[in-house]
Amino acid sequence: MSMAATPIPNDLDAFWLPFTPNRAFKRAPRLFARAKDMHYFTPEGRAVLDGCAGLWCTNAGHNRDPIVDAIKRQTEELDYAPAFQFAHPKSFELASRIAGLAPGDLNRVFFCNSGSEAVDTALKIALAYHYVRGEGARTRLIGRERGYHGTGFGGISVGGIVSNRKFFGTLLTGVDHLPATYSREHQAFTKGEPDWGGHLADELERIVALHDASTIAAVIVEPMAGSTGVLPPPKGYLQKLRAICDRYGILLIFDEVITGFGRLGHAFAAERYGVTPDMITFAKGITSGAVPMGGVIARDRLYEAFMHGPEHVIELFHGYTYSAHPLACAAGLATLDLYRDEKLFERVNALEPHFAEAAMSLRNLPGVLDIRTVGLTAGIDLASRPGAPGLRAYEAMERAFRDEGVLIRVTGETIALSPPLIVSESEIGEIFDKVGQVIRAVG
Ligand SMILES: Cc1ncc(COP(=O)(O)O)c(C=O)c1O
Repeated sequence: MSMAATPIPNDLDAFWLPFTPNRAFKRAPRLFARAKDMHYFTPEGRAVLDGCAGLWCTNAGHNRDPIVDAIKRQTEELDYAPAFQFAHPKSFELASRIAGLAPGDLNRVFFCNSGSEAVDTALKIALAYHYVRGEGARTRLIGRERGYHGTGFGGISVGGIVSNRKFFGTLLTGVDHLPATYSREHQAFTKGEPDWGGHLADELERIVALHDASTIAAVIVEPMAGSTGVLPPPKGYLQKLRAICDRYGILLIFDEVITGFGRLGHAFAAERYGVTPDMITFAKGITSGAVPMGGVIARDRLYEAFMHGPEHVIELFHGYTYSAHPLACAAGLATLDLYRDEKLFERVNALEPHFAEAAMSLRNLPGVLDIRTVGLTAGIDLASRPGAPGLRAYEAMERAFRDEGVLIRVTGETIALSPPLIVSESEIGEIFDKVGQVIRAVG
């Protein structure tokens, strides 16, 4: 790959960056111009080791030749086909491949373009499913504190992150929340699923008693909450949620936008936990981040509930211009081939103990309050500086990028690590060595 310097833009004004402090960024930008496998390269050509798979998405590594080639071929062959009333062959092929990876009778795939759209789609399918079955009073949606389900109005309503909600009015009505599953007191420094906390699923019983099951459409949770700091599910928790939902006819949705496609050592976390939800949302890893794509996998009976009435009438009034976009489908098929041919999900299982060990080696560093790991994911909580919540972690990200050449993600005061699944044992060592240096530096 050419390491020639890439021109740096000299006007940063127009672009309003998402989830970024714009003024600080524009004073000292962090830019990536190229990427290959485990590394980003800045416009000057400096290598930065990717500890985050971009934003939890480039699971197969960066700019993998088979994915790049598939996108190139597709763009020459068919740029776009109308998503409504028409389709193109690869959309069916990709849907079948995804259904084949999902557990049980999760066989029907609805495509969209992002995790946020996937969440909105799943919530809408849940409401409409009850409606078409004559249970239209089931309108309540249950999310969870510390849940992240993207930034659409549906997602922020069922989500549980205060700053993502408080600016935006009354959100969806009729939403309630389960308590978060994290307790530092009972779970600190756990590798994998904590022993404590399974009983928190019983809170769903309380919510059902309060609202009555006849008003509740669905429960949505991330099997592992990623964006609020890597919170693996307590042992037995997801199984209990499933049992309670079954008891009351409530749909269970797993938001697998992060946990899908290998992050926890399986195609979906549902498989790791032996729990089959009624819908799975996915995005990110489906194309290894190369082209935007998201979707919902639904159980057969959900799809079938809509297949009534005159055949010329649309069954579900929902979709996006770019649902199953040809470039995304081509990228998705090439990505799934890579996952299969390189056995990347199995690789995560093999690496998990080593990754957890490497993460825990940082436990005695100054200011480290907790470390959690599961699959190829780690969350490291730092103590806040007095009066400046989030500043220490922000400085850690800055230093990691500029001084240590490693990309880390921070949310609040937590460092989250989730490298591409192709990461080697020595690169895992390098990531945690560098993160250790950074934690010492901001300590
Ligand atoms: C669990 C979960 N759901 C939804 C989303 C939103 O995805 P997107 O940013 O593609 O809309 C994310 C993003 O990180 C996520 O982690």
